[in-house]
Amino acid sequence: MTSAGQTFLFDGMAIPFASNETIAMALDRAGIRTFGSGQGSSAGRYFCGIGACQACIVSVDGTRMEACLTPARKGLQVARIASVLP
Ligand code: FES
Repeated sequence: MTSAGQTFLFDGMAIPFASNETIAMALDRAGIRTFGSGQGSSAGRYFCGIGACQACIVSVDGTRMEACLTPARKGLQVARIASVLP
């Protein structure tokens, strides 16, 4: 269950999240399964969930981070890498 009013932005879209949820978990629950270009053969997906494959790399407030390891926080600006970083 999500906390009322707790959202971050993903490419400008408000994504609700629950406490202790990662960015990847919230995006997956919202039906978003393509996070961007990522890296490796599983690029752009929520794949290993433990920070090993680097497929879920997104921009979080302008910094490349693993969506599967990064806790969701209110007000974060998350974006697909291809849309904000070279
Ligand atoms: S899903 Fe593999 S590093 Fe995030």
